[in-house]
Amino acid sequence: MGEKKNIDWSSLGFGYMKTDKRFVSNYKDGAWDEGVLTDDAEVRISECAGVLQYSQSCFEGLKAYTTQQGQIVCFRPDLNAERMADSCRRLEMPVYPVDKWVDAIVQVVRANKDWVAPYGSGATLYIRPYMFGSSPVIGVKPADEYQFRVFTTPVGPYFKGGAKPITIRVSDYDRAAPHGTGHIKAGLNYAMSLYQIVDAHNEGFNENLYLDPATRTKVEETGGANVIFVTKDNTLVVPKSPSILPSITRRSLVWIAANILGMKVEEREVLFSEVKDFAECGLCGTAAVISPVGKIYDHGDEICFPSGMEKMGPTTQKLYDTLTGIQMGRLEAPEGWIKVIE
Ligand SMILES: Cc1ncc(COP(=O)(O)O)c(C=O)c1O
Repeated sequence: MGEKKNIDWSSLGFGYMKTDKRFVSNYKDGAWDEGVLTDDAEVRISECAGVLQYSQSCFEGLKAYTTQQGQIVCFRPDLNAERMADSCRRLEMPVYPVDKWVDAIVQVVRANKDWVAPYGSGATLYIRPYMFGSSPVIGVKPADEYQFRVFTTPVGPYFKGGAKPITIRVSDYDRAAPHGTGHIKAGLNYAMSLYQIVDAHNEGFNENLYLDPATRTKVEETGGANVIFVTKDNTLVVPKSPSILPSITRRSLVWIAANILGMKVEEREVLFSEVKDFAECGLCGTAAVISPVGKIYDHGDEICFPSGMEKMGPTTQKLYDTLTGIQMGRLEAPEGWIKVIE
């Protein structure tokens, strides 16, 4: 039996730390091999690999938690598996079968269980599954060979300061195109957001808020999280668009709001011009959990939510407490939401 790693869990940020084992499976001659756990954290591929030339890659992100009862669990990993299958189909990559995908996650988390933060520490084990074209490609076409890998890294809060409200700004650039790849988790979506995120940080903002690429009048999402709003009469409003990544956290919050908190929920197009009338705003995702937004900056204008810059709004707090309560085993989970690792 191993022991928990000697890490100052409460001071972890969102970064990479090499852990003990990772899962690797290769696709060749039209089939995936069995896959293995390995100590080797290096990848060796052709200088002409599809991923290096034409960015043929996609990824996922989920977490392992230690529950109040001391179990190690994951939250809805089957949905990550299905979303990655969607990403693969859109990028002409071979799908890694959903049941084997979840099994790979279980194997990697088990092999790194000493890196899963203790209950109540504020940290979790982030799991990063990803796939890339590994064989040489020079004319523009899909690779013939692929590698699927899963590594883990212990993480703390995605935004510095944890649950303190953040300030985001409306971006002048788009993260997705109409009929493009905004709805899948392609590495290329994130490459094209780097200029904007560096600029946002330089200007003192935590994230970019992207509007719909066709008309720039509707709210889409941020670079790494979906957006949720709460109206003054306590309705949860979530933007709907074909170019938003279908966040598993957001889909779960919608269910929690309607079925546990008894709230009215609207999933619909949200005009940016409506945003000033909302009571609360948050960014949701595996990494962000729910980060409250205190302020949105838009070319000299500011939208300041009534919830302010000190703490989450009351409904955001309820959503946060319920979601994290389910993840950490303090509240009963809906059927199939919790995958017990051990
Ligand atoms: C662009 C984008 N939107 C939303 C999310 C949140 O999705 P999820 O809740 O499935 O982690 C992420 C992170 O995964 C993301 O990168």
